Amino acid sequence: MHTTVGIIGGGPAGLLLARLLHNAGIDSVVLERKDRTYVEQRQRAGILEQATVDVLRSAGAGARLDAEGIPHDGIELRFGGRAHRVDFPELTGGRRVWVYAQTEVVKDLIALQLTDGGPLLFEAEVHAVEGADTDRPVIRYTHEGREQTLTCDYVVGCDGFHGVARDAVPEGVRTSYERTYPYSWLGILADAPPVYEELIYAHSERGFALASMRSPSVSRLYLQVPNGTDPADWSDERIWDELDARFALTAHPGWRLKRGPITSKAVLPMRSHVTEPMRHGRLFLAGDAAHIVPPTGAKGLNLAATDVIVLARAFARLKETGSTDLLDAYSDTCLRRVWRAEHFSYFMTTTLHADPGQSPFETRLQLSQLDRVATSRHAAAELAENYTGLPLDTDL
Ligand code: FAD
Ligand code: DHB
Repeated sequence: MHTTVGIIGGGPAGLLLARLLHNAGIDSVVLERKDRTYVEQRQRAGILEQATVDVLRSAGAGARLDAEGIPHDGIELRFGGRAHRVDFPELTGGRRVWVYAQTEVVKDLIALQLTDGGPLLFEAEVHAVEGADTDRPVIRYTHEGREQTLTCDYVVGCDGFHGVARDAVPEGVRTSYERTYPYSWLGILADAPPVYEELIYAHSERGFALASMRSPSVSRLYLQVPNGTDPADWSDERIWDELDARFALTAHPGWRLKRGPITSKAVLPMRSHVTEPMRHGRLFLAGDAAHIVPPTGAKGLNLAATDVIVLARAFARLKETGSTDLLDAYSDTCLRRVWRAEHFSYFMTTTLHADPGQSPFETRLQLSQLDRVATSRHAAAELAENYTGLPLDTDL
């Protein structure tokens, strides 16, 4: 089989890229190692930036998002027993975010691709990319029990952090930058109405907590826990009690979360990682295959979307004009945004979490930083601009 753009991975990056290429009249094949149900059920991100919403709409994948997505105009920060709201539109000239789960984005994109798009193969596991620095790269994969090859004009690795595409960039050519964190998140889904109409990010000496949502009747909640935590050690009651303790407000001592049956529990490790460059010859890396952020600040999915928007524009330019200028600029264009998001995610993570080795001095510094956001328009605007995402065409 031959295609113009061979896409490894049918997560949000690969599926959105396939859609944008299809709309630009460029053919592609998506190879995804898991089955459709697995990919559609995988619980991950929940917040979409304006630019991500805009591209999903313009790509024809916005109908359910418009009907079921919940626009949010701010977040609440809780620290030192008090609450402070950050108002996004007021601080950013009108920008906001949407609560619409990654599972739903993936379902929408898969449905579109299967009814009106190029091949999307599930249970197609890629083993290797060969000839990335030649004119005819080859993807080797297994599908329906057979070893197969896909020859491509270009290959895009959208296969996440544990994929194989990054390994096709020779070690001497790529540099990785990485940081791990001494804590993880215990994430739960509960059949309980959200505690508040917006997200709450809570700093407490017991550790970080985040209250998010999936719908008016389903809450998504996260607790900072030590690395290596077994979710089985956290009974439902222990989780709710700990959430109540971390979200406690001095002025409202009776404030409690609305409890309900917990339907899923998982522990997520935290990592920052960037691989440079994001291109080698005719192989491009996009999304988590090239970079990971810790989830505080909800940048992962949005960064993946931005990479493929930039890449799809570059392929469209090549098709229309024969020029590779945007493809040549891809890595540098994306890395500027990537590093901004890396910094913001690091800032949110280290400002809001309790490092196990943290001194009282460092806790005071965190509280001072949060107080600064609560009292300075500049500091609040800096947070709001980063959280809602910079406009795609901005020169950063
Ligand atoms: P992925 O979603 O990882 O998709 C990669 C795809 O490639 C997968 O479908 C995988 O099966 C496939 N693949 C891998 N290897 C191969 C192969 N060899 N052959 C074929 N296919 C392959 N972000 C947030 O903003 N908020 C969150 O709460 C949040 N929670 C997260 C929880 C977890 C457990 C993880 C791992 C990430 C989370 N993220 C979160 C990050 C966000 O979900 C990712 O940034 C986003 O999924 C990136 O999309 P992607 O398409 O680049 O990669
Ligand atoms: C969600 C995840 C995040 O990492 C975040 O910062 C906000 C919301 C979520 O899953 O809803």
